[in-house]
Amino acid sequence: MTSPDPEPALIAPSLLAADFSVEAARLVEPAADWLHVDIMDHVFVPNRTIGLAEVQVLRKATTIPFDCHLMIVEPEQWATRYAEVGADTVTFHAEASGDPVALARDIRAAGARPGLAVDRDTPVEPYLELLPHFDLLLVMTIKAGFGGQEFVPELLSKVRAARRHVAAGHLRVRIEVDGGIDEDTILAAAEAGADTFVAGTAVFNAQDPIGAVRRLRALADAHVPGASP
Ligand code: DX5
Ligand code: ZN
Repeated sequence: MTSPDPEPALIAPSLLAADFSVEAARLVEPAADWLHVDIMDHVFVPNRTIGLAEVQVLRKATTIPFDCHLMIVEPEQWATRYAEVGADTVTFHAEASGDPVALARDIRAAGARPGLAVDRDTPVEPYLELLPHFDLLLVMTIKAGFGGQEFVPELLSKVRAARRHVAAGHLRVRIEVDGGIDEDTILAAAEAGADTFVAGTAVFNAQDPIGAVRRLRALADAHVPGASP
């Protein structure tokens, strides 16, 4: 059996850096692959952002795929509801879920792709065997909770381990990195094996957010094995 072809690099601007405005979503929509939507509940992380109602407003105003990142406790209560309002990917944290495989099945049954996230202090190894049930693994490259933090390069060892596991198992699982991704750090993340890149500050604090998305994708594509140059 041969390995599946590597997937092209995807850039997912994080609306956290743009106050979740419809205008910001529409601004990057022509250039971005996905829109990363951070849901925080002030319990799983100290910060609070938006919820289901606001995601519905954004969904109705745009057509770009939504990459919802749930930083909440009890994701079993909420994850399928994000799928039902039109999220394309619904990612929940391994630390918050008692039965990640069951929740992945529920998210898929509700019409979205399930993703599993591991925060800064969580090892990835215990979760690698669950990956056949998921479409995406999100490796935090900061401590979850706030945008604008500095990328932690040591966390790329988790990306490398995940990439080895995905390749060895011929799995079709995207590996996403989130936190501190910019034009200086994306190369290292891509070389470690990430193929999906969240960027908040690096996109929305740029003079030209569309140009920033395009530059990030060009840098990543040059380093994601098999992606188009
Ligand atoms: C933080 C969020 C990130 C955040 C990244 O917990 O999950 O998606 O928006 O922001 P930057 O790209 O500014 O580090
Ligand atoms: Zn995020």
